[in-house]
Amino acid sequence: MGEHIVSGEKGGFDKNAQKSFTLPSRYYTDEAIHQQEIRKIFQRSWLYVGHVSDLPEVGSYITEDIAGQPVLILRAKDNEIRAFFNVCQHRGHLLLSGRGKTGNRIVCPYHAWCYGLDGTLATARMTRDVADFDRADFGLKTIQHALVAGMIFINFDPNAKPEDGDLPAFEKTILGHLPEMPEYAAYHRFDFDITANWKVVVDNFSEGYHIPIAHPTLATLYNEKGGTSQVGKRYKFFQKTAKAGFGGFETKGDEPYMTWFLWPNLCLLSLPGSPQLIVLRISPNGPGRSLEHADIYSPSGAETPNLTAVTSLFAQMFNQEDIALVESVQRGLSSLGYDQGRYVADRENSWFSESGLHSFHQQILDDLSTES
Ligand code: FES
Ligand SMILES: [Fe+2]
Repeated sequence: MGEHIVSGEKGGFDKNAQKSFTLPSRYYTDEAIHQQEIRKIFQRSWLYVGHVSDLPEVGSYITEDIAGQPVLILRAKDNEIRAFFNVCQHRGHLLLSGRGKTGNRIVCPYHAWCYGLDGTLATARMTRDVADFDRADFGLKTIQHALVAGMIFINFDPNAKPEDGDLPAFEKTILGHLPEMPEYAAYHRFDFDITANWKVVVDNFSEGYHIPIAHPTLATLYNEKGGTSQVGKRYKFFQKTAKAGFGGFETKGDEPYMTWFLWPNLCLLSLPGSPQLIVLRISPNGPGRSLEHADIYSPSGAETPNLTAVTSLFAQMFNQEDIALVESVQRGLSSLGYDQGRYVADRENSWFSESGLHSFHQQILDDLSTES
């Protein structure tokens, strides 16, 4: 392996972005690497699943398939949010599906074992003669969760702490810019089935190098110069300012255009002229596919100035442009005609270069090199 953690046809990955070759293409196509990412990254990191407003009342629930795991999140009788594996402890049938509201009990559709909203097994039919059967041994398996500015995160690792994912610092920056986020609700949700490895999608979000070329309209929205950034252990934040009178928006100029990235798969953006937050979650779906969920939050889930324009700029324009880009890149990465390129990173580590792309890949390699 030499001095580099990984090498490809042209050279090695280097801690210094200016000296480094990009991740070899096998990182985007190989089933074994994909499985390691699920185990070492997704099953150990804090993963966004929704917002407290998705669970308005006792019995409200959401189910999700996250990193291959069926997950159930609900509001229990004590009004607290709980997360469980959505799996019956009798013979493994899944319990609830979709989103909705359940009564006092969760009833398994297979043999009707009944669970309380706190996950305890309340009743199990015909178990009178089952030797040493103790319902207390068959409660739902819990998953730990954390609330971050009203957003719900889970972690499959029972020993993970919110600090490991930099959640307290991340929450501080969200609340610093969108203090009402805990009271927001989803205004729109979109799902995109993308034929590209999840990292290709995050890669694309990590660099502004492509924006003037691939999103000419978006590029006219903000000022090239100025802006601020903040880089934490597991998150990054960038703020630029809007130009006045962007088409379709009533911007006066200087409204903030903000983006966040939280390890490993969460990209947030707040376009200027509206107090909304677009939350993009990119989930792996095999080595060559991913699912992108976009939740657009606004105060109380209602229309606010420019929100319709923001939603259509995002959903109909630049996200579609990005999906075409990443699907093309995946085809190239899968071809015999490509293995590695170079990071176009500047000394200032600016968002307009590929420094953030390099640091995302550094984190991937660091986490993959941990013990399983
Ligand atoms: S699998 Fe749930 S009751 Fe049998
Ligand atoms: Fe883009």
